[in-house]
Amino acid sequence: MTVRVEMGKDSGGAPVSMDLEELLATRLLVQGNSGSGKSHLLRRLLEQCAGQVQQVVIDPEGDFVTLSDRYGHIAIEASEHSERDVARFAARIREHRASVVLSLEGLEAEGQMKCAAAFLNGLFDAPREHWYPALVVVDEAQLFAPAGGGEVAEEVRRASLSAMTNLMCRGRKRGLAGVIATQRLAKLAKNVAAEASNFLMGRTFLDIDMARAADLLGMERRQAEAIRDLQRGHFLALGPAVARRPVAIEIGAVETSARSSSPKLTPLPQAVAEDMKGLLLAPAEPEWTPPAPSPAPTQMPSERLIEALARSTPAPVDEVAVDPDEAAGRIAEVLRDIVEDPDSTYRSPSVLYQDFLVRCRMVGLARPPLDLSGFVRRLSAARAGIHGDPDADWAQALDAARALPDDMLGPFLLVARAAREGLPCPSDTELAATYGTSSLGRVRRLLTYIESRELFVTRVDLAGKRSITIPRLGWTTQPSEAG
Ligand SMILES: Nc1ncnc2c1ncn2[C@@H]1O[C@H](COP(=O)(O)OP(=O)(O)O)[C@@H](O)[C@H]1O
Ligand SMILES: [Mg+2]
Repeated sequence: MTVRVEMGKDSGGAPVSMDLEELLATRLLVQGNSGSGKSHLLRRLLEQCAGQVQQVVIDPEGDFVTLSDRYGHIAIEASEHSERDVARFAARIREHRASVVLSLEGLEAEGQMKCAAAFLNGLFDAPREHWYPALVVVDEAQLFAPAGGGEVAEEVRRASLSAMTNLMCRGRKRGLAGVIATQRLAKLAKNVAAEASNFLMGRTFLDIDMARAADLLGMERRQAEAIRDLQRGHFLALGPAVARRPVAIEIGAVETSARSSSPKLTPLPQAVAEDMKGLLLAPAEPEWTPPAPSPAPTQMPSERLIEALARSTPAPVDEVAVDPDEAAGRIAEVLRDIVEDPDSTYRSPSVLYQDFLVRCRMVGLARPPLDLSGFVRRLSAARAGIHGDPDADWAQALDAARALPDDMLGPFLLVARAAREGLPCPSDTELAATYGTSSLGRVRRLLTYIESRELFVTRVDLAGKRSITIPRLGWTTQPSEAG
């Protein structure tokens, strides 16, 4: 079952949607400065897929409780309950597949963290038979997974961070899909951010956040500058659930509104100073009594918990740790796909690297297994027809090529492969394609450079055919036309 969640429009006005099932498998990170429209975006997502999937919202400001009237979410005010209760609710929520908003409004920072930890642990520790898929949305996630130590007690910070880490790193197997939003990437623990494969980046002012956003998106820093100029409600999206290459989205409208909205200027009262002073300093009225303590914690009546998930998505497949051989095989496949994609021939390495990261995530490899330079070298090898782990001969060739810059590896290996297999020498046009250029002049300069490093010796026979020898390896190609 494919459920598309329409998030908004791209710059050409075409709808941009997210694939809900893919989102459940690959998680989402939203970043943007305060006021950039993150909470609005989360609300859009929640509203658009309400009724299609169970939703659990951890809401520091109590903004999302307004979902309850229209969509039937159950609002839990954490300040009215004990931590133990909250953990117990979490277990019931999983059992009954209820959509809820846990409002942490009114709790101090430390109380919020403790409560979120208890709640997340409750969701996480649910018995296996309750591992139904659910979106777990955490707004202002840096509060619960801070990058550094803060004002709160160390043990509280650790408990909250570990619950968030569990959600993002190990939640998938249990059906929990983290969707987290943060104002500042640099303030969010790296391991928590790194587990999301989908990103929506909104306006970001600080260089340090932009740099981290660029890293996550696999973009060059220069390209990522665009994030600084985004308007409120505009985001750059990337990831298996939304798009293979970054797309700009303007997030669409929402049905419900935040309980607290941005402050609006209203005219100041007109009272003259004397009157105002009188009002402020007036004695307390004698009949004034302190407000009654909040009502005793009420048990959440389980019959009120709704079946939000009428037609559920299938239970997620168990996430198996990928063993290194299997991972190497998948990487080889991904590289092969990139090489075979005609679009990729003349793309810059950094753009291809971004594509590579997304493709890896799509085959279940969350962590980038190669850095940019490693990727370029492997891609060059793949373009030269060397797939999988290089065998001993290839290791020798790769070793010989160490003196060459990354981008020359492709043409070098193309020649090496022909030489090793006694095939005709690749033509300039073939060399140009592996070099990512269409200029034959560049190819000739490239060959001259490799010759100057004594890695190639080129011979042209009387018929005008070229052959290339790699002296260090003792391999020679068959002669063939260069043009
Ligand atoms: N796409 C949008 N369309 C219309 N209004 C938006 C949009 N995104 C944000 N807003 C409005 O902008 C203000 C700030 O958005 P909000 O989502 O609260 O920002 P953040 O959570 O990033 O601080 C809110 O009043 C919100 O309603
Ligand atoms: Mg917000």
